Amino acid sequence: MKNLIEDIDLLPPATGAAAEPIKVTAETSTGKNRKLYIESYGCQMNFSDSEIVASILQKEGFDTTSDLAQADLVFLNTCSIREKAEQTVRHRLQQIQSFKKKKPEMLVGVLGCMAERLKTKLLEEERIVDLVAGPDAYRDLPKLVAQVDEGDKAVNTFLSREETYGDITPVRLDTNGVTAFISIMRGCDNMCSFCVVPYTRGRERSRDPHSIVAEAKDLFSKGYREVTLLGQNVDSYKWSEEENNKARLEKQGIDRIVNFANLLEMVALVHPDLRIRFSTSHPKDITDDVLHVMARYENICKYIHLPVQSGNSRILELMNRGYTREWYLEKVNRIREILGPQCAISSDMITGFCTETETEHEETLSLMDLVKYDYAYMFIYSERPGTPAAKKFADDIPNEIKTRRLEEVITKQRAHSLLRNQQDVGTIQKVLIEGNSRRSDEHWQGRTSANRVAVFAKTGNKNKGEYVNVLIESCTGGTLIGRIVE
Ligand code: SAH
Ligand code: SF4
Ligand code: F3S
Repeated sequence: MKNLIEDIDLLPPATGAAAEPIKVTAETSTGKNRKLYIESYGCQMNFSDSEIVASILQKEGFDTTSDLAQADLVFLNTCSIREKAEQTVRHRLQQIQSFKKKKPEMLVGVLGCMAERLKTKLLEEERIVDLVAGPDAYRDLPKLVAQVDEGDKAVNTFLSREETYGDITPVRLDTNGVTAFISIMRGCDNMCSFCVVPYTRGRERSRDPHSIVAEAKDLFSKGYREVTLLGQNVDSYKWSEEENNKARLEKQGIDRIVNFANLLEMVALVHPDLRIRFSTSHPKDITDDVLHVMARYENICKYIHLPVQSGNSRILELMNRGYTREWYLEKVNRIREILGPQCAISSDMITGFCTETETEHEETLSLMDLVKYDYAYMFIYSERPGTPAAKKFADDIPNEIKTRRLEEVITKQRAHSLLRNQQDVGTIQKVLIEGNSRRSDEHWQGRTSANRVAVFAKTGNKNKGEYVNVLIESCTGGTLIGRIVE
């Protein structure tokens, strides 16, 4: 499924805001008769949004189906992060066209970042599309669907400054019943020069902490044992009573300003058996307070996704990342100081950004040697129309060079992932069982606090959603292999 050259990820599924299309389909039943089929591409935010979409439409009597042929309503929740992500969706729309020929009444909608970026163009370019809805327009979907039912095309790509869908309880799709995402904020104000997200997702806004804690409690009571708090830049989470509902927050005893460290603590207190992860941290914004809260609570997983993008300060400046190589390395030291060497760190890297020289690329490799990331998502630079980089700089690194640099980064990361996994061999790790191993029903699969995938035989009458101690006996670059011990 994965192309080795572009969009490589060595990260086990779950955290890390990035990369590959995730197909999200699952069945729910309202007892009524129209059926929604939804596929998600891109980051976990989209995955999480699809659960909000399913919830909004369930109230209107739409069941979800995992069978495209059964669907009355087909939604693709799309990603624009790289050109390839958009091509994947266009290709999928062509495939869907053949279904639509057999079933012309089937309504096809494009949601998410591509919808936002291309707006009405999608209706013209992809003639099978009936409905286009951007990430902040999902409450409007019942109305948009009704509009299409009446024979019109429907579009809403309005970006909001307030929408967080905080009051909507997501319908969990494709769930293992153990791990779930909770969206804590939307949008991004960072303006990294290569990135389309600020344009497709709009301004940053934080969700009411009370609704986040309530969602975590609800998930715990339903048997979930891990939540991942999601945002493009979770460290800039900020909820202030002035801007929001003062009286209600006072009644609930929530402080004047809730920052990410405060929120993390509030969620960690829901239950010691509820594991907390979060993604993505921006190196310039993650604070010592966050690291100290992580150290204080055993149930906050010792894993930080801290994308560096490049190891060279000039390139970082052109990328408008807000830190230098030295500053980033200092942040990594701080993490190691406060959380110890066992805290895993992962990254995103872009090769062949505008004007990147060979020496500057080598600085990415040397930074990797210094940090020794546990995992990384690695990409070649893909120019996105309308972004500051597209406007200001020429995309001047030839594809072969971008690709060769990417291969070097991948080779190095493979070695480091293996090294990190090898450091766990011989140790006992607390693992949350997520389900059967992909290869065998006689083995469980789960993850360690550091987000490493562990596989082990089903001994000792344990179940999905339980914690077990696993002695790690061997490993590959992607998996720890062990056995349950007392
Ligand atoms: N908010 C997160 C990441 C969002 S996008 C953060 O700030 O880290 C996920 C990753 O996609 C980015 O970290 C970056 O490595 C990659 N990416 C974003 N735009 C890209 C582009 N134009 N070309 C190649 N990779 C890109
Ligand atoms: Fe894009 Fe930068 Fe925002 Fe991440 S922090 S979403 S890379 S603009
Ligand atoms: Fe996510 Fe892709 Fe949009 S990475 S925010 S779905 S552009």
